[in-house]
Amino acid sequence: MPSYVITGVSKGLGWEFLKQISSDPSNIVIGIVRNKPLVEKRVAEELASRRNITILTADITKYDELKAAAADTAAVTGGSLDYLIANAAYLTAIDTYDDIGTLGQDPQKFSDEFRKAMDANVLANVHLYNLFMPLILKGTIKKVVAISSGISDIDWINDYEIANLSPNAMSKAALNVVTAKFNAQYKKDGVLFLSICPGFVDTGHFIEPTAEQKASMHMMMEKYYRYSPGFKGPITPKESIEAVLSVVENASIEKGDGGRFLSHFGNRQWL
Ligand SMILES: NC(=O)c1ccc[n+]([C@@H]2O[C@H](COP(=O)([O-])OP(=O)(O)OC[C@H]3O[C@@H](n4cnc5c(N)ncnc54)[C@H](OP(=O)(O)O)[C@@H]3O)[C@@H](O)[C@H]2O)c1
Repeated sequence: MPSYVITGVSKGLGWEFLKQISSDPSNIVIGIVRNKPLVEKRVAEELASRRNITILTADITKYDELKAAAADTAAVTGGSLDYLIANAAYLTAIDTYDDIGTLGQDPQKFSDEFRKAMDANVLANVHLYNLFMPLILKGTIKKVVAISSGISDIDWINDYEIANLSPNAMSKAALNVVTAKFNAQYKKDGVLFLSICPGFVDTGHFIEPTAEQKASMHMMMEKYYRYSPGFKGPITPKESIEAVLSVVENASIEKGDGGRFLSHFGNRQWL
């Protein structure tokens, strides 16, 4: 029975991971959330018949809570874990439209948001991986996946002059290095570490832009269409997670995927 731990399953892509993976009754699925009663209520309402779901509490930025979640996971699975999916993230709203120069004009706000992004998206995942590594090493499949973002691809930023989404992109670039460092250490033990971008997905973050923001959004979309002429706008969580899970299944150390940063297409095409 393959076992999975996914962080941040309360909504968005995390919820979709939980839903798709738990649809196979032979999978053991553990979701880590901040508000357990709320998510258990959602599970009871929408996935009530599924006995293979366990919800655990942890704010991923709190080491002791993550440590307790690792111990609780071991109690559910018998001490091992096959898949760890680091999905939870702090997504700042300040960088959607503004470039890094504009953000820098409010240094306090930028510093606060930058630290929150680095804390949740980078440091917390280092602790998550270290705390769950004894379980992964006892697992059969041994796959650890960071949900990253194509916006951290340096070539894409440079070639298409993507000046917005800075703290988010910086934190995901650092997360990709975390993936590579863990691969460098644990590849010899048969653990596959991957960073995967889920695509541009509609998870309800869109807020009606102001007139000024509309111009910025228009420019951004033009860049996206130039990058990928077939781009049709955001995909659904269902489409995204089906694609991401297929990339996870197909990837292996033997194929040279250890530590790689891939899109939901399994390559470096982000849109
Ligand atoms: N949507 C996209 O287009 C897109 C594109 C590229 C990459 N991604 C990546 O995909 C992942 C999911 O994104 P999403 O769009 O589904 O975002 P989302 O809807 O905002 O969901 C984020 C999840 O992370 C959880 N979370 C945040 N901080 C946490 C913490 N400190 N401890 C525990 N859980 C925490 C949230 O829980 P609460 O309910 O408690 O807040 C929520 O469940 C992220 O890593 C994101 O960067 C998304």
